[in-house]
Amino acid sequence: MSKLILILAAQILLLAAVASAGNFARTMNPKRIQKKEKLTHLRVYWHDILSGRNPSSIMIHPAVANSSTSFGSIRMMDNALTSDVPINSTVVGQAQGFYAGAAQRELGFLMAMNFAFKAGKYNGSTITILGRNTVFSKVREMPVVGGSGVFRFARGYVEARTMWFDQKSGDATVEYNCYVMHY
Ligand SMILES: *[C@@H]1O[C@H](CO)[C@@H](O)[C@H](O)[C@H]1NC(C)=O
Ligand SMILES: *[C@@H]1O[C@H](CO)[C@@H](O)[C@H](O)[C@H]1NC(C)=O
Ligand SMILES: *[C@@H]1O[C@H](CO)[C@@H](O)[C@H](O)[C@H]1NC(C)=O
Repeated sequence: MSKLILILAAQILLLAAVASAGNFARTMNPKRIQKKEKLTHLRVYWHDILSGRNPSSIMIHPAVANSSTSFGSIRMMDNALTSDVPINSTVVGQAQGFYAGAAQRELGFLMAMNFAFKAGKYNGSTITILGRNTVFSKVREMPVVGGSGVFRFARGYVEARTMWFDQKSGDATVEYNCYVMHY
């Protein structure tokens, strides 16, 4: 008899545990997002400045020995994003993150960065780009994997085109055309 009570008590405890574990998540109706999905095109210019007194892109790990493709190197950056090609044009945000030499037999970087916008209605909103950048290709496509603020639920892609590259200093300006689906 007491054994039966014990088993029952154990079952009740188990049920209670399952019920409380179930409280942390619930299914919601996506129709609660009362906005229509939009497609936004942003064109910004990304300035990777390695040289001078105020570089915005800093080597935090050098390439492995003898690598001719920067394999293993990591650069942390806080690069200005401007509305036009010249670096002194209007700053609309910052590209913050890192890029790392990820290819042994070609020049190919893993890019992991947030575009943190500062301008107008995009002020405070971000998109996150994570992708492969073979910098000597004319056009490099990389995924937009998410976003915040205006860009909640973002997905999309960017096309990067080098506008200008100084072989001596490594400084570069790259056009980013971003195509972002969001609400
Ligand atoms: C780098 O190259 C030098 C000269 O070719 C060679 O002696 C050395 O072992 C290489 N180092 C590595 C880590 O491959
Ligand atoms: C940007 O720099 C260029 C060349 O240094 C200069 O001619 C131009 O007036 C500057 N533009 C602004 C908006 O400061
Ligand atoms: C962007 O937002 C910040 C914080 O709310 C504010 O301080 C700043 O003035 C805003 N900038 C623009 C250009 O609206």
